[in-house]
Amino acid sequence: MTFLTPIIVLSSVCLVLGILLVLADKFLADYGECKFVINGEKEFTVRGGSTILSYLSANRIFIPSACGGKTTCGLCKGRVVTDIGPLLPTERPFMSKEEVADNTRLLCQVKVKKDTEIFIPEEYFLVKEFMSEVISIEPLSHDTKLFRFKLLDPAEIKFKPGQFVQFRIPKAGEERAYSVASCPNNSGCIELIVRLVPGGLCTTFMFNKLKVGDSIYLTGPYGDFYLREETEDPIICVAGGSGSAPVRSIITYLREKKSERKIISFYGGRTPKDIYFTEHYAEVAKDLKNLTHIPAISEPEDGDGWNGETGLITEPMERHLGDLSNYEAYMCGPPAMLHFCTLLLKKHGIDENRIYFDEF
Ligand SMILES: Cc1cc2nc3c(=O)[nH]c(=O)nc-3n(C[C@H](O)[C@H](O)[C@H](O)COP(=O)(O)OP(=O)(O)OC[C@H]3O[C@@H](n4cnc5c(N)ncnc54)[C@H](O)[C@@H]3O)c2cc1C
Ligand code: FES
Repeated sequence: MTFLTPIIVLSSVCLVLGILLVLADKFLADYGECKFVINGEKEFTVRGGSTILSYLSANRIFIPSACGGKTTCGLCKGRVVTDIGPLLPTERPFMSKEEVADNTRLLCQVKVKKDTEIFIPEEYFLVKEFMSEVISIEPLSHDTKLFRFKLLDPAEIKFKPGQFVQFRIPKAGEERAYSVASCPNNSGCIELIVRLVPGGLCTTFMFNKLKVGDSIYLTGPYGDFYLREETEDPIICVAGGSGSAPVRSIITYLREKKSERKIISFYGGRTPKDIYFTEHYAEVAKDLKNLTHIPAISEPEDGDGWNGETGLITEPMERHLGDLSNYEAYMCGPPAMLHFCTLLLKKHGIDENRIYFDEF
């Protein structure tokens, strides 16, 4: 017996008690019928005991919920006016001080156990569910594919370049977020650029099982990462990995609009095999005269045939960028990349309020 034994025993007892409480709440508790009110205007009577997120989707109100309730996305936020108990440890990492103060909660975590009133952004009422058909699947690189969906019902979607949709995994029912890679003007079709996450539920399904002709439910549009069109100011785009999808939508849209905005677009990968769309952007630049597209790799090797920019994406950015005080920036990629890019852009004089990003 070591000094750790009592700690192990105590932890095991707590774990068992915790599991028993969860099971008792799931199978024994009866919360009866509860009034569920949304934004003071929509009222439903529901059988208590399930999460707020599940009542919303049962009533065809779709809110962003990219991890299917696994508390990794933190997107399913809403303000719960009714006192439903303290913030859960699973919610805390996603909440700012202001959100804690105004009772913002993760709606996949909290349950309706009595009459409950919530507030969600009005734009969520515009989100629709689309039945679609897969019309093509194209490899872009060793781990990335472009999936094209024809919308069947409804047959058209309205979205802003940069926004995302959610892909519902058949049978599993869970959804994952994917930025739309196509142009909003092509409203009958949605293109997604998806990078395989080894062992990932959705991407494994998409890469190994999904085929042309399959029917898929998508919901959307979601998100406040989208092209601002109030000005003609120049733009910096920065993308890492699958972050190229929303940037492609933004640039394609500007091309169709015959925009004269100056655009400098950086795309970072690790090795040459991560880089795609170089020819595509060379073609786009024939119409969009003010576009400069700069791919870069962070791990060049002798004999890899790469003649382009090298270094972490901030290095080519530093080499190419001057004063950015009149620019706006659109960035998409992993959190660490976005952090360092933000520091660099601010150093070059960009207004922090004009840096827009999606992390993934
Ligand atoms: C707003 C938004 C837009 C997005 N747009 C795109 C897009 O355009 N293209 C795209 O490919 N993805 C995009 N994503 C990521 C996407 O939603 C999924 O998270 C991703 O495809 C993994 O899903 P999965 O079900 O295969 O993996 P899961 O089963 O959810 O995860 C399996 C494991 O992999 C880890 N994991 C999840 N994602 C990653 C990752 N990216 N890298 C490394 N490990 C990971 C998880 O933590 C978990 O441990 C976006 C996410 C958000 C929030
Ligand atoms: S945290 Fe992802 S759905 Fe709630």
